[in-house]
Amino acid sequence: MEKVVNLCKRRGFVYPGSEIYGGLGSSLDYGPLGVELKRNVFTDPLVDCKSCKQRFRADQVAGTRCPECGGELTEARQFNLMFKTFVGPMEDTAHVAYLRPETAQSMFVNFRNVLETSRLKLPFGIGQIGRSFRNEITPGNFLFRTREFEQMELEFFVRPGEDEQWYDYWRHARFEWYVRLGIARDRLRLRPHARDELAHYAKGCVDVEYAFPFGWSELEGIANRTDFDLKRHSEYSGKDLTYFDEERRERYFPYVIEPAAGADRSTLAFLVDAYDEDEVEGEARIVLRLHPRLAPYKAAVFPLLRKDGQPERARRIYDALRKHFPVDYDQAGSIGRRYRRQDEVGTPFGITVDHDTMKDGTVTLRDRDAMTQVRLPEDRLVEELGARIERS
Ligand code: GAP
Repeated sequence: MEKVVNLCKRRGFVYPGSEIYGGLGSSLDYGPLGVELKRNVFTDPLVDCKSCKQRFRADQVAGTRCPECGGELTEARQFNLMFKTFVGPMEDTAHVAYLRPETAQSMFVNFRNVLETSRLKLPFGIGQIGRSFRNEITPGNFLFRTREFEQMELEFFVRPGEDEQWYDYWRHARFEWYVRLGIARDRLRLRPHARDELAHYAKGCVDVEYAFPFGWSELEGIANRTDFDLKRHSEYSGKDLTYFDEERRERYFPYVIEPAAGADRSTLAFLVDAYDEDEVEGEARIVLRLHPRLAPYKAAVFPLLRKDGQPERARRIYDALRKHFPVDYDQAGSIGRRYRRQDEVGTPFGITVDHDTMKDGTVTLRDRDAMTQVRLPEDRLVEELGARIERS
């Protein structure tokens, strides 16, 4: 853990909060690479079609149908766990507000609006990524538990009676999401909640857990929240939050399956899981074996020498690649040191411009994990990098 924490600070993933003033306990700030890494955790989730098995970026499909084949108020949280503030300039009881401790409730509150404006039929989901705040009593373990964090939650509405089947579906789908992004299967497990652990509104709940250096701990919870939230919001708001099933001519409160994940916690798991130390040509190297989709830089471009037109040529390649992928450029120090620097921040591919490039327009492409190098024409780089990222 300490090694990952040190690397995070050294290379600009995560810094201690307000460090120049001696640090603010359990407050952390993301650095440039940390922001990119975390953004990669939650901006590109994939969805699979159950019938035609095609995969899409979740943010590019509307609703829950395949574009190809068509195929509570929460458990009353203790108020002292919520951050209290005032809305507007008046600090009196009429203006008291609380920062939200989960993103979930806004999706129940907007259920009617989304239903009416999107004209969706069950089953469908509403997802949200956003900040949540909890005045945690025991924050700690780096990014694992903080007072301000980012959640990724999905409220998936289904017909009562179909909830068990969708609960199974989401348990499986969420577990596989971590595996697909590179986490070793044997460091993940699904742990069902014991009866006395279950929230009063939940019919079932299972945690996806990761074997962190400090022990097996929760990454995400998947719960069958039944119709509890919609019923309670209906009761307290006086608004009808039922759904009319046209095919069956029935009116009911949908059941809800909720995968609730933390962007920061999964970022920590991806970092810890990727951290590795090995030896290259007799020298120790630290390498983050991040999945290429998660890596902040997809490639780095290096001129072998700082002369003979190589830096200018490498810059041109960098500028061309930059239009397609986040890439880095580095001409400082020996080529070995430059590789090491990129290995340490998880850059999966290195592109070197050398003497031959100036003659025949080919470059070397180095793979961070296999350590293989191949030569290819520079105008094939975009295609090759795209294919390798896609394949991994
Ligand atoms: N709507 C249900 C809900 O909020 P939760 O288990 O309290 O469930 C879901 O939170 C996820 O949010 C957790 O699995 C975790 O990944 C993340 N999370 C919760 N509290 C956190 C904290 N203090 N710091 C970082 N992540 C947190």
